[in-house]
Amino acid sequence: MTLQYRSQLRSFYLTSSGEFHTFRLPVPSLWPDILEKMKAAGLNGVSVYTHMGLINPSRGVVDFDSFRALQPLYDAAKAAGIWIVLRPGPLLRRVAIQYINAETTAGGISHWATSEVAGVLRTNATDWRAAWQAYVQGIIEQTAPNQINNGGPVIAIQVDNEYSQSLITHAEYFQELEDVYHNSTITVPLTYNDPGEGRNFINGTGAVDLYGLDAYPQGFDCSHPENWNPVTTNYFSYHEDVNPSQAWYFPEFQGGSFDAWGPTAPGYALCAELTGPNFQSVFYKQLWASNAKLISYYMLYGGTSWGAIPFQCVYSSYDYGASISESRALTTKFDELKLQGIFLRSSPEFYKTNVIGNSSTGATSTSNPAAFATFLQNPDTKTGFYVLRQTSSTSTAITTFKLNITTSLGNVQVPIVVSAITLGGRESKLVLADYSFGSSKVGYTTAQVFYAGTIGGRDILFLYGNSTQAHEIRLALTGTPNKAHQTQSPLITFTASANQTIVAFQAGVKGLQTVWDSNTQLVLFADSVTVTTFWAPVVPGTSTFGNYWALGSNTTVLVGGPYLVRNATISGSQLALLGDLNTTVPLTVVAPSTVKTVTWNGASVQLTAGVTATGGFTATLAPRTAVKTVAVPKLTGWKFKDSLPEIGATFDDSTWTVANHTTTNIPFKPYYGDGRILYGCDYGFCENIVLWRGHFTSTGAQTSVNLSINGGEAFAASVWLNNAFLGTSFGNSTNNQNILEETDDKFAFPAGAVHPGDNVITIVQDNMGLNETNGNNPDTSKSPRGVRGFKLNSGSFGAWKVQGKVGGYTGFLDKTRGVLNEGGLFGERKGWHLPGFDTSSWASRDLATGLPGDSAGVGFFVTTFSLNIPSGIDAFLSFTFEEPLGQDYRLYLFVNGWMMGKRVANLGPQAKFPVHQGILNFQGVNTVAVALWSMGRAAVSPSLQLVLDGVLDGGVPGVKTDNPQWTPVGRV
Ligand code: GAL
Repeated sequence: MTLQYRSQLRSFYLTSSGEFHTFRLPVPSLWPDILEKMKAAGLNGVSVYTHMGLINPSRGVVDFDSFRALQPLYDAAKAAGIWIVLRPGPLLRRVAIQYINAETTAGGISHWATSEVAGVLRTNATDWRAAWQAYVQGIIEQTAPNQINNGGPVIAIQVDNEYSQSLITHAEYFQELEDVYHNSTITVPLTYNDPGEGRNFINGTGAVDLYGLDAYPQGFDCSHPENWNPVTTNYFSYHEDVNPSQAWYFPEFQGGSFDAWGPTAPGYALCAELTGPNFQSVFYKQLWASNAKLISYYMLYGGTSWGAIPFQCVYSSYDYGASISESRALTTKFDELKLQGIFLRSSPEFYKTNVIGNSSTGATSTSNPAAFATFLQNPDTKTGFYVLRQTSSTSTAITTFKLNITTSLGNVQVPIVVSAITLGGRESKLVLADYSFGSSKVGYTTAQVFYAGTIGGRDILFLYGNSTQAHEIRLALTGTPNKAHQTQSPLITFTASANQTIVAFQAGVKGLQTVWDSNTQLVLFADSVTVTTFWAPVVPGTSTFGNYWALGSNTTVLVGGPYLVRNATISGSQLALLGDLNTTVPLTVVAPSTVKTVTWNGASVQLTAGVTATGGFTATLAPRTAVKTVAVPKLTGWKFKDSLPEIGATFDDSTWTVANHTTTNIPFKPYYGDGRILYGCDYGFCENIVLWRGHFTSTGAQTSVNLSINGGEAFAASVWLNNAFLGTSFGNSTNNQNILEETDDKFAFPAGAVHPGDNVITIVQDNMGLNETNGNNPDTSKSPRGVRGFKLNSGSFGAWKVQGKVGGYTGFLDKTRGVLNEGGLFGERKGWHLPGFDTSSWASRDLATGLPGDSAGVGFFVTTFSLNIPSGIDAFLSFTFEEPLGQDYRLYLFVNGWMMGKRVANLGPQAKFPVHQGILNFQGVNTVAVALWSMGRAAVSPSLQLVLDGVLDGGVPGVKTDNPQWTPVGRV
């Protein structure tokens, strides 16, 4: 790291960024879609965790192929004009002790390391250091050429995640990681995210170049989205105290929430509400008020915790209630993010501010104690930014007031013409003073700014405000007006004041209004709904960083109407727009006067005169008819085969691994047994379904077995004696209450079930992911998944055998879908879940027929279906279970071989599993396979449908599928 880059980071324009985990969208050709959406919201950064467990599946093996690749992310980010803060770990996070937080299995630590490392993980233990070397070197090799100083998008690397420096073993571990980066060609700053105001890694051993603070002020219980916590008011003073010479950085600020297993889980719609547009308005602007200049929202796009990605507390969807939904659809949260993002992008005077004070310090004041203002000022231009909120930050009152501000034309109380500034409940606003747009000046404005800048040499200001409230702006109107376009609304008035003009917008102004249209200026105003239909795409420049706003381009156009505008280019007199449409919309364009024609996704648009005399157009855009014809088929033609031959009398487990270890690095030791360690990970089988077979010779006295089984929250394990079903042990979850990670049950043997000679206890066990670590005990990721106790009422067990996915973590077969995709069910071992497996000899049985009662069991159902969705159309598809919760089954959903979700039908909550193009072949045959595990004596009958959740004319081109077919090689 050189000082040059340290100062460069500080002088970047305010970075607003979002978290996106590429491994949660395992289709690299869709990554541009997320990054283009982020860019369209005015963001200029993305924060990315990489997953050691996926990239480094076994000791020394580092694999950046398929969805584990980084180069496609780097290329897409650069093409979109997005900077990257890379957060390789090796650990993703620590659980704050008071929370059970959502993330990924073992917090991202490679599963092999949780078994093979004897020393404490995430410390300076020698064998942990040896364990992370290959992974970190791999990250360095991939990333060094993509750093900003080499023309790439990477501006910073986070050392590890949310840790504490107080233990020297932790601090030295940080230092060791930093030394490895420093001894490489990595030159970008190293960063850190403190989980609380703990002052970790600012100074001393392991100190980083740029310190940041994470915050989740609403917490993670979405069940009462109207219950808000107050905003934190000491961020500014904390920053002043701990690292005033650095930019104030929030590496993670709440962008949604995870959701936990169980029938009372609130679901992501409520998480989106808890962290909705009003939350974004109040809490994000409070960060601005604290002088934060680098902010990243966690998550911006959550995606899917497919396969064995989740840690034990969360289900397959990682939608997170984020601004971009799991299906990749834009939400109302995205609208608010865009209003904030384009404003920040438009306001270079805000990139450098001092906090002058607030209502309590007397630096500014409001006429109503219920309204609170913080005054920030640019020291060079003296531009004033007054961040306004309710004094009681959770208040839902309508609060009206006047604000005392400092301007170059004197101190005034605003507004002057309209009666008051209004905070309509939970909202936050900015009043600006001496603010520039192009070379024009705003004296002050109580209306909000969407866009400020220039287009085609004219100064452009796009204001907005709620139509139930009044707003005003005082500015210098210049140039020769063209009255033809100017608003005729009687609710908009013009009053001369202090050599400027006050334009007042009384309550009731709706739609888009041209306030002033001259040869030098264009001032627009829209109500707060209409403004959300507008976009300000960056028209790229030609330099290396031509796609980056401010660095490579200051050119934009304003486009109103479409669902999304991804891209705008101008060649000669033609403006080419690329984007998405969901319905017929009126198009509004404000472009340089040189623009005479417009194309939309390559087709020319019929233009009429628009909101301004030059460069302004209106038109109608309609999705192509093909969009209306998109349909999905019913899932029919299911084939069925039993997938539990292990309980048959002739089953031969001689090729299975003998589970005969008597020592383990996993610190949580067996409860009872005979000293043998039955932890799957110690035999290479760390995730998904693992089967155990315990043999014993009958003496006639065996009547029961005690088993303690550990699979993590919401797991289950079904147990048989020979072919007699004994019962199922359930881990349980009711929205984080009564968490049961393991069971301790006595299974009685039914009369006649014990044979003379060899008998076998067969256990089918699910694993819900390894625990994350916590600061006190980083070794909790070494989770004892498996059998922690085994005891016959009489006599002892002979051999124990174990089988998980074929090959375990060293020899697993599916290198494309990776180590976390498959489990150890018989059908998975045979590859029945993969496309191309021949099921023609199987029985026909509808999935809805399911499995019969009387006994638990496991069956595979496979079918194919065709899609014919034309290119240029983005369709959001999901697999949806229509029956209510309550049936005793678990189901593993494989789409073209990818395990895209676990349905736990007795617990829930998840019934809808979005699956993207790329996993789905939109123009061809698709295979869907489900492993259905009935856990009780009642019949189970899943009702699974393929559902079209949304369709857009647009999307990104060139989405590729990479779904390797079944081959017999290695399938045992
Ligand atoms: C943070 C952590 C993230 C994530 C988040 C909750 O503390 O750094 O990785 O777990 O909590 O979703």
